[in-house]
Amino acid sequence: MASFRIRQYRDQDYEAVRSLFTHGLLEHVPAAYRFLLRSARVQLVLLVLFATVRAATGSWLLGLAAVALVMAATWPMVRFVCTAYVQNALSTDLCDIEGSYMQAPDSCFWVAEAGGAVVGTVAVAPPQNPADRGAALELLRMSVSKDYRGRGVSKALCRQVLRFAQARGYSAVVLSTSMVQVAAQRLYESHGFRKVGFTGLSPLGDLLCIQIFRYRCDLSGSTADPPR
Ligand SMILES: CC(C)(COP(=O)(O)OP(=O)(O)OC[C@H]1O[C@@H](n2cnc3c(N)ncnc32)[C@H](O)[C@@H]1OP(=O)(O)O)[C@@H](O)C(=O)NCCC(=O)NCCS
Repeated sequence: MASFRIRQYRDQDYEAVRSLFTHGLLEHVPAAYRFLLRSARVQLVLLVLFATVRAATGSWLLGLAAVALVMAATWPMVRFVCTAYVQNALSTDLCDIEGSYMQAPDSCFWVAEAGGAVVGTVAVAPPQNPADRGAALELLRMSVSKDYRGRGVSKALCRQVLRFAQARGYSAVVLSTSMVQVAAQRLYESHGFRKVGFTGLSPLGDLLCIQIFRYRCDLSGSTADPPR
């Protein structure tokens, strides 16, 4: 398999970038669903539902059917929350990548290219959270094609963002990732990011136990240039 190189975004990358982002995000829907079903809150709701239907009808079968129905109805809701997040990104910053990142101050978008194809993406911009603005930049849109995972592509993209922020005199890089993006959490933690809090995705996302972790990397102690 060809090695990769990191370069700045160009207009011809547009469709590949949007596709990588969409697939990278939606692949987590099954994990988010499993996480939901394992949560104590949901298990309690299902137990109460089962007991109520069982008591009201006297039928174990109807109790189980009610639980199965609710579990089946929850799947499209989890998918809807994730799809809505993707659609929002595709219709905002990823609708005009050039304008959002390449022409905006303190922003940039990079792709990892291998064999002429885009196999990874990452962006940096001033943080959406006003409390972080001024001192930090935000890492966004990290995604690597499944065929190129485990080859250090995301490490190279992460280092690119840390170097960019450091070169501009920022003291930190912040980012958000979800509870089920475990590979991303390990990646960020190995580059000096630490979890600093939680944030909600949407009211429905909160109801479905979708947690978003906030991470921060203080650049004085970061690993922007670790030994290779
Ligand atoms: C997260 C992601 C970007 C990692 O990309 P990658 O190029 O495969 O990662 P790398 O090969 O550079 O590995 C970097 C580190 O990530 C972590 N990592 C990568 N894959 C992992 C896995 N399957 N499980 C646990 N940790 C993993 C490890 O810490 C790894 O370092 P190590 O190899 O020294 O242990 C990729 O899995 C992806 O695109 N996922 C879908 C989209 C996504 O979740 N994006 C994050 C948005 S916040």
